[in-house]
Amino acid sequence: MVEEILRVENLCKKFEGMTVIDNVSISFYRGEIFTLMGQSGVGKSVFVRLILGLLSPDSGEIYFKDKNITNSSDREWIEIRKKMGMLFQNGALFDSLTVFENVSFLLDEHLKITIDEKKERVAKLLLEVGLKDIESLYPAELSGGMQKRVALARTIALNPEVVFYDEPITGLDPITASVITKLVNELNKAKKITSIIVSHDVKTSLSISDRIGLLYNGKLVAIEDTKDVAKCKNPYVDQFIKGKLTGPIKTVMEGKWEEK
Ligand SMILES: Nc1ncnc2c1ncn2[C@@H]1O[C@H](COP(=O)(O)OP(=O)(O)OP(=O)(O)O)[C@@H](O)[C@H]1O
Ligand SMILES: [Mg+2]
Repeated sequence: MVEEILRVENLCKKFEGMTVIDNVSISFYRGEIFTLMGQSGVGKSVFVRLILGLLSPDSGEIYFKDKNITNSSDREWIEIRKKMGMLFQNGALFDSLTVFENVSFLLDEHLKITIDEKKERVAKLLLEVGLKDIESLYPAELSGGMQKRVALARTIALNPEVVFYDEPITGLDPITASVITKLVNELNKAKKITSIIVSHDVKTSLSISDRIGLLYNGKLVAIEDTKDVAKCKNPYVDQFIKGKLTGPIKTVMEGKWEEK
């Protein structure tokens, strides 16, 4: 049976009069991989930041396991974010901290454990993302793919039930991208992590996800099971996944032509 883990109702967010998220409602289900797609600048990162309390919505509600978390206090958000982790776009490792310090950052904040326990946990977390014996290195000494893995180890340190991945493979070479994608899939299956990915990589999204959503003009214009996408009649989905210039999604080029 599908169990709802997270629900967003009528979420709205404007910046200086510009509507970025326009009345978006959606449920996410425990254990699924959901990918939110949409053109650059469409509001994908804003949507994720709203759900995690890193931005405040203008209106709308967010429910985590049926509890309304929309107006949680800062202290409550800290507790919620133990259960909902985030792999930030660009990784966001602390450059001046070692791998060990980066990965143990959340452990230090939330758990009272000895240094030996911490060492053991960090080594185990690194192993889970396919890394070993790199605790003393600094982010600058790692490849882009390794940095992503370290950021992922930090994200899963407190055993979150939901993980948001903001553009996890953007900027990586195709093979490293496949390695990270496989890892996201393995963590979803092995640890039953509900995975909400933001990506505009159509091929990867369709191969890894149970469902996809498409954001356009502030609205969620499509939510589809990936197994049904091939025969999907939604013109937004059809245009986006095939990269067509014509269709309901207005392109920059079309705008320029219209101006002339
Ligand atoms: N804190 C903010 N203040 C003002 N405007 C913002 C803020 N954060 C985002 N925006 C604007 O909201 C819009 C959506 O931004 P967002 O970062 O969510 O896009 P995105 O879909 O994640 O794009 P990309 O694929 O390039 O990462 C953009 O026009 C952006 O400039
Ligand atoms: Mg973004």
